[in-house]
Amino acid sequence: MSTLALAVLGRGLVDPTEPVLRADDLALLRGQAAFETTRVYAGKPFRLDDHLARLSISAARMDLPKPDEEAFRELVMGAIELKAIEDASLRLVWTPGSSEGGGSVGFALFGAIPPGHEPLRTRGMNVITLPLGVPYELRAKAPWILGGVKSTSYAANMAAIAEAERHGADDAIFLAEDEVVLEGPKTNVWWRRGQTLFTPSLETGILAGITREFVLEAAPGLGYEVEQGVYRRSELATAEEAFTSSSVRELMPVVLLDGSPIGDGRAGPAAAALQLALRRTASEG
Ligand SMILES: Cc1ncc(COP(=O)(O)O)c(C=O)c1O
Repeated sequence: MSTLALAVLGRGLVDPTEPVLRADDLALLRGQAAFETTRVYAGKPFRLDDHLARLSISAARMDLPKPDEEAFRELVMGAIELKAIEDASLRLVWTPGSSEGGGSVGFALFGAIPPGHEPLRTRGMNVITLPLGVPYELRAKAPWILGGVKSTSYAANMAAIAEAERHGADDAIFLAEDEVVLEGPKTNVWWRRGQTLFTPSLETGILAGITREFVLEAAPGLGYEVEQGVYRRSELATAEEAFTSSSVRELMPVVLLDGSPIGDGRAGPAAAALQLALRRTASEG
């Protein structure tokens, strides 16, 4: 990621190459921080309040102090104005600080949007499924597994993407026991049969994606019904189209699953219509 700006709670804008954490911050030692990623469109962060609310939920799930959402909002909006930021990815991080009482650190990191997204949206992604080997009920109900929490302990998620790339794929989709479809390492998963969109329900312990929420709201207006549930891999594999949703990559078609085409193997109409609707909503602020 090419960094555009860095702003720290209590300090404001700082040189992005400057260190902002102590070496004994538990964020670093234990991967115990909460984070959020959203996208800035024409100077407006998409659904910032929803991301801040989810940051607080993640912090609570990890027993971190509650972040000051208003202070974060001011930090973000101030940085966007001072640096004249137009289009960017925006990562918010909230750490517990040191176990010796160093205090929490909150920062907002703005980065350039990676250039590869638009060609990938045209081509569609090649995705592999990867088993997690746990029942989906456990992911949602065992608080120590941190299902649905955006913590900085994403090393396993990044290892899954690296595994996908070793297989010549672009991304991965996690499966719970019995091939129950969960989510990608950084995305929610969708597929379509006729005019119905399907997506795993939150009871599978997936992250309540903000883009997922947008799709749930926008789909009926575009002529699609949505069903949420507990679905097996075979239902995704035999769909007419599939796509992922996430804040920075937005709606991204999936055209190959474990080497076999989904539908006609091309990017589908629902992903395209939702992508247009997302951009329209984002530009309205
Ligand atoms: C595990 C996981 N699922 C889903 C998502 C998509 O969430 P959102 O639409 O809020 O970006 C993310 C985003 O990073 C994620 O990390």
